[in-house]
Amino acid sequence: MDKLLDFTGKTVLITGAAQGFGELLARELAARGAHLVLGDLKTDALMAVASELKAGGTKVVALHCDVSNEAHCQALVDGALETFGQLDIAVNNAGIAHTLGPIETITNDMFDQQWQVNVMGVQFGLRHQITAMRKQKHGVILNVASMAGLGGTPRGAAYSAAKHAVVGLTKTAAVEVARDNIRVNAICPFFTATPMVTKSDLVSHAGSLEQAKDALSRGAPMRRIAEPEEIVNVMLMLLSPGNTYMTGQAIAVDGGASAI
Ligand SMILES: NC(=O)c1ccc[n+]([C@@H]2O[C@H](COP(=O)([O-])OP(=O)(O)OC[C@H]3O[C@@H](n4cnc5c(N)ncnc54)[C@H](O)[C@@H]3O)[C@@H](O)[C@H]2O)c1
Repeated sequence: MDKLLDFTGKTVLITGAAQGFGELLARELAARGAHLVLGDLKTDALMAVASELKAGGTKVVALHCDVSNEAHCQALVDGALETFGQLDIAVNNAGIAHTLGPIETITNDMFDQQWQVNVMGVQFGLRHQITAMRKQKHGVILNVASMAGLGGTPRGAAYSAAKHAVVGLTKTAAVEVARDNIRVNAICPFFTATPMVTKSDLVSHAGSLEQAKDALSRGAPMRRIAEPEEIVNVMLMLLSPGNTYMTGQAIAVDGGASAI
């Protein structure tokens, strides 16, 4: 295997691993030799993914986890340390969207939920992951933000505010831990055909999945939304053992949307 994509023996923690980006990333890393610590709210789906990976020979710890609960985030880190003795890589991926609407209709509850899951979920992860990584003097962290964290997002005010906060946390953490040999970056995908989009009310509003994809693709010069593997491939590049000097970055993977 090319050493740039060889994760043999690395312990990788992923939140939101029951479906979407998190599940696909877990599968790709398992195929490249990683040990996995996986968390998700959807316990049954998570356990099904974990069983399949274990059957293929991967060492997996899978835990029910609500990232808005700090103890659950700590338990994932503890699981990595107790089972594998170290935490090499952490991917703070779990996140939620909200029903789109004009800013004056976005409720306080929607803002609260975005804050608890999309912002505090990342902060709780960072707190415990960095505590472990500072002791071992190495680590790589990837936060899954969004294009909504890099610019205004019409009809997505609370999500956009939360994802901007994720970018701020990423840059701040990166600067604070750089001398401990820990890299922290964020990935900022454009709309992607994961269940967050394909099973959302965007589809019922548009009439069909194809019509929803058409409508969403107008924001990208490539005139299509992303496929999950197009984002996960960049996650692998950002996590690569060969990527040793990049930190504090929020990387857009967006079919050219941010180039306009
Ligand atoms: N799909 C997109 O268009 C897109 C674009 C940009 C960014 N993102 C971000 O990518 C990340 C992954 O999204 P996805 O597209 O794979 O979505 P998804 O809905 O397909 O998967 C998200 C996973 O996170 C889990 N999750 C949700 N809340 C959780 C919580 N509180 N605790 C633990 N797990 C929780 C869900 O159960 C699910 O398994 C999210 O942070 C999302 O905001 C997605």
